Amino acid sequence: MSVTFLENFSAQTSETKRKLVAMQTGNSESIRQILQNSLPSDITLAQRFESFSENNLGLYALPIGVAPNFLINGKLYHIPMVTEESSVVAAASSSAKFWYKRGGFKSVVNGREKNGQVHFTSEAPSEYFDSISEQLQPRFYEELLPHVEGMESRGGGVKSWIIEHRPEVMPNYYRLDVRFGTADAMGANFINTCLEVMGRTLEQFVRENNPDSNTRVIMAILSNYNPGSTVTASVSCPVEEMITKGATPQEFSERLVMATRIACCDVHRAATHNKGIMNGIDALMIATGNDFRAIEAGAHAWAARDGQYRGLSEAHISDGVFHFSLTLPLTLGTVGGLTSLHPVAGAVLDILDNPSAEELMQIAAALGLAQNFTALRALTTLGIQKGHMRMHLGNILIGLNATREEHEKVSEWFNDNTVSLSAVRAYIEKLRENGAK
Ligand code: MEV
Repeated sequence: MSVTFLENFSAQTSETKRKLVAMQTGNSESIRQILQNSLPSDITLAQRFESFSENNLGLYALPIGVAPNFLINGKLYHIPMVTEESSVVAAASSSAKFWYKRGGFKSVVNGREKNGQVHFTSEAPSEYFDSISEQLQPRFYEELLPHVEGMESRGGGVKSWIIEHRPEVMPNYYRLDVRFGTADAMGANFINTCLEVMGRTLEQFVRENNPDSNTRVIMAILSNYNPGSTVTASVSCPVEEMITKGATPQEFSERLVMATRIACCDVHRAATHNKGIMNGIDALMIATGNDFRAIEAGAHAWAARDGQYRGLSEAHISDGVFHFSLTLPLTLGTVGGLTSLHPVAGAVLDILDNPSAEELMQIAAALGLAQNFTALRALTTLGIQKGHMRMHLGNILIGLNATREEHEKVSEWFNDNTVSLSAVRAYIEKLRENGAK
């Protein structure tokens, strides 16, 4: 394989891009074919997918599954999930079934405020910025007007702002901190447009009124840390109803409490604990065309909000009742962006009965809690590997080119035997040897 510099690559057609990239491998025609075949035959659809990102070569398929029977705030949902991890949908489904029989999930949105900042430097003292806020407000209003009308008609807009001196960062550093509402949209473009307008307006105003202050905008951008946009999902039931294999209800409940306590205090466990929660939330975010990287960044920043990175869920027992909850910020949308452009995201939102952004936050938090529940149940009772490796068996069999008959025999045998790649390979080899005799 010889990799060479690709001159003027972005100007080429998709067909040429596929050829050029494939030619850099030792297997050019087959790579080109794989990429070509990954596109849908419907040209309009293929073009739409191509428009999502630059230098498109094709499509990368991931399975979309469904975790049925989630009872959330008294309403039933079948939750579509896009994930490549074989046990994730099974874990969510199992948790949904468990909690369906115990009253389901409650999910409450605590706030929907988003924020962004204009970061700037100035030699003016902080009192100067306190003194100009009344004059600045109408200037912001006037300049923002054409950009906020649509959003305001849907109940969103620029809600408030404040200028803060932060000398601990740099002596001349200031921050214009702005709060937004974005209705059912994720609103990233809206927020960033407003912030850039506000940054320019601020710079211009100070240039006119205090030209010696050398006031300069460094950057204007939304924040993915949104403590004003959190949701809490919870479940509870009498301890005696916490029935599971491998532990009594009392033991099981106590182990779950201890597991969340460990995640609260030990960063090593907290990272994995939260990864399990995000297994579910990301899968729904991808399925609905939301920006899962933004959701991830916000969740982990929230997990570290007091300076120590902690698990996002909490469990306790009081008066004989087991309580389990999860709170995290979720800044997602159900209109605009990919939610409207990706046909599968549109279908997913239909399956969910076209939720508002607030309702989707409630669903996502419940799903994250469900995922965490099943992971902790397995970890604190029978161990994770038995179930995990059984789910992984399908992938192993594909890798070994197993026939349908071999598939059936292997599945039966590994009902009672420990799954591992070498054990499955050895068993298939034995089957093939016996078949050849
Ligand atoms: C695996 O993807 C997720 C888990 O590791 C989560 C956890 O440990 O809580 C099972």
